[in-house]
Amino acid sequence: MFGLGLTVKKGIFITGTDTGVGKTYVAAGIAEQLRQDGVDVGVMKPAETGCAARAGKLVPRDAKRLIKAAGVTDSLELVNPVRMRKPLALLVAAAMEGLRIDPRDIQNAFQTLASRHEYMIVEGAGGIMVPIAPGYSFLDLAQEMGLPVLIVARPSLGTINHTLLTVKALKDRGLAIAGIVINYADDRRPGLAEKTSPAVIEEISGVKVLGTMRHASRSFSSIVAFLS
Ligand SMILES: Nc1ncnc2c1ncn2[C@@H]1O[C@H](COP(=O)(O)OP(=O)(O)OP(=O)(O)O)[C@@H](O)[C@H]1O
Ligand SMILES: [Mg+2]
Repeated sequence: MFGLGLTVKKGIFITGTDTGVGKTYVAAGIAEQLRQDGVDVGVMKPAETGCAARAGKLVPRDAKRLIKAAGVTDSLELVNPVRMRKPLALLVAAAMEGLRIDPRDIQNAFQTLASRHEYMIVEGAGGIMVPIAPGYSFLDLAQEMGLPVLIVARPSLGTINHTLLTVKALKDRGLAIAGIVINYADDRRPGLAEKTSPAVIEEISGVKVLGTMRHASRSFSSIVAFLS
């Protein structure tokens, strides 16, 4: 573990109960809303896999989406210090591409960005237990960044288990949890599971569901109201 020695004024670390649940969608929406509210928002996607290669360079789509949403001019190298081509878990992609991720590179970039901006939004990769380097996961990174964690969860059956496990992992480490956002990444119609799960998750976890993002909804103001 490396102490950052930095007090971040404000921000959130966005994790998900899984990959593809809508972390980038929610992170970008929050960044856009905060920006509209006049907040100087910085963004970070510390590590991204599955990057397409264009003209010999890897293109991190999530990082670029976040940069656009926040309207920042920070370099892609600061916003996304680690990127890989293979669409695999970080450690696996790194091993296959012969790379070794040094968490200090991520922390240094975070420190620079956090000193430039009023509010930092950091998006993890996959879920909170995903390893970044041997013995070092996104849980460690979120803890060292000192940011409260926002959990993005899917609405469908199975989400109670995934969300409670994520909350438990964070609480066991004593991390602050900003809340849960239920996100409709696909355009399914809410059935009984979708309608009943949020209340069950709130009751058992004791963590507030800040809001439900319907498919294609762009209304993030009520969620942002809980964050700032
Ligand atoms: N509420 C929503 N409405 C419409 N489309 C959405 C919504 N949430 C997510 N999506 C779409 O679903 C897909 C997956 O979402 P997203 O990329 O945000 O997931 P993620 O959790 O960031 O995935 P990863 O683990 O790869 O970073 C994207 O194409 C995104 O645009
Ligand atoms: Mg993403």
